[in-house]
Amino acid sequence: MRDEYDDTIAGKKLSPESLMMSYGYRPEWSEGAIKSPIFQTSTFVFESAAEGKRFFALADGEGGSGEKSGLIYSRINNPDLEILEHRLALWDGADRGLVFASGMAAITTALLAYLRPGDVLLHTEPLYGGTDRFVHGILPEFGVRTVEWEPGMSEADVDAALELALPGRRLGAVLMETPANPTNDLFSIAMARRLADGHGEGERRVPVAVDNTFLGPLWQHPLRHGADLVIYSATKYIGGHSDLIAGAVLGCDEMMEPVVGMRTILGSMATPYSSWLMMRSLETLDLRMRRETETAQKIAMFLSAHPKVKEVSYLGLLREGEPGYDIYREQAEGPGAMITFWIDGDEEEAFRFIDSLSLIHLAVSLGSTETLVEHPATMTHACVDPDEKKKLRVNGALVRLSIGVENPDDLIQDISTALEAV
Ligand SMILES: Cc1ncc(COP(=O)(O)O)c(C=O)c1O
Repeated sequence: MRDEYDDTIAGKKLSPESLMMSYGYRPEWSEGAIKSPIFQTSTFVFESAAEGKRFFALADGEGGSGEKSGLIYSRINNPDLEILEHRLALWDGADRGLVFASGMAAITTALLAYLRPGDVLLHTEPLYGGTDRFVHGILPEFGVRTVEWEPGMSEADVDAALELALPGRRLGAVLMETPANPTNDLFSIAMARRLADGHGEGERRVPVAVDNTFLGPLWQHPLRHGADLVIYSATKYIGGHSDLIAGAVLGCDEMMEPVVGMRTILGSMATPYSSWLMMRSLETLDLRMRRETETAQKIAMFLSAHPKVKEVSYLGLLREGEPGYDIYREQAEGPGAMITFWIDGDEEEAFRFIDSLSLIHLAVSLGSTETLVEHPATMTHACVDPDEKKKLRVNGALVRLSIGVENPDDLIQDISTALEAV
């Protein structure tokens, strides 16, 4: 019998989708239950005071020999969180994963683990509205200065912007959202790595963190392209059913260490119940994301041929020579299921389209089994600076669709009927 962390058969490595039902768990631990129970407990009993002392020392990183701490307290560790973290790590080829109470908890904990007052944060634009609020509204109050990396900027352009901001400061971290929410703009992870390496000092590695919510864990693996941390709103494809809020951060042991310590102290971890739900979700991640992507390709093609649609931004429509094409070929493995389009008109026409849909629900969030529509300029990105939104084309005409698992013809019927009403 394979042990709980064996990911091979006769030396051949198994795919993550084959391991999502079993990896990291043994039925003997739970009366033979094929599924892990929900360990709904705040704390764990030590066998002796000496054991408690040893577990705390190991949790504080005093082991050295690779020995891992036993279970202590659910803010520090819990079996449901740990099994889920081991499974998530398989998709991204990470040493270590950590799950959080939300995507925002994951992003803020990771950034707080690395940034210090006076630092510069280089970040791509646009960013999800909540992330934008943290980066532009909160981090400056802690003395962090931001440098914006906008779509289409060359490496020399970004480097020049950094050179202006850096005198007397250090580059604390690079934060990327690629594809960007909501425009699907792409940014090169390899370029971010070069910029980070060009501005580190001595031994200090400047972390490149990629919010991989739109494409991962199936269609993009940032750690393979030079990222140090991959971040998710697990509320989206990982949870996948619009029934939980969670986040995740993954990376190598060394780069994850400050994030582990920060999560323990902030208490920003996921709960055992939502971790258990995510284990269930991961069993169908591959099936869901493939089906959603196939349907999204059909819908994007339908939209791009429609006279009431001005422009569609979908990775599956990118052609050689277009902005983003080379980055897409370099770092993504599939186009995903997020479609953004600009309707022929403005907010009024966009709202008429949205309000005329019947199968597709109007709700923020994405990556779920049901197809969702939203209007970023007035909803998920309402808090972004109006001039920034204008520059980044997050305007009244822009509509965002997250494609689910419904029948593609039914979705096209719904979209077609709603466009007729505009
Ligand atoms: C790209 C991206 N990152 C992060 C978040 C924040 O995640 P959560 O809502 O789970 O906190 C979102 C939420 O929509 C998102 O779209």
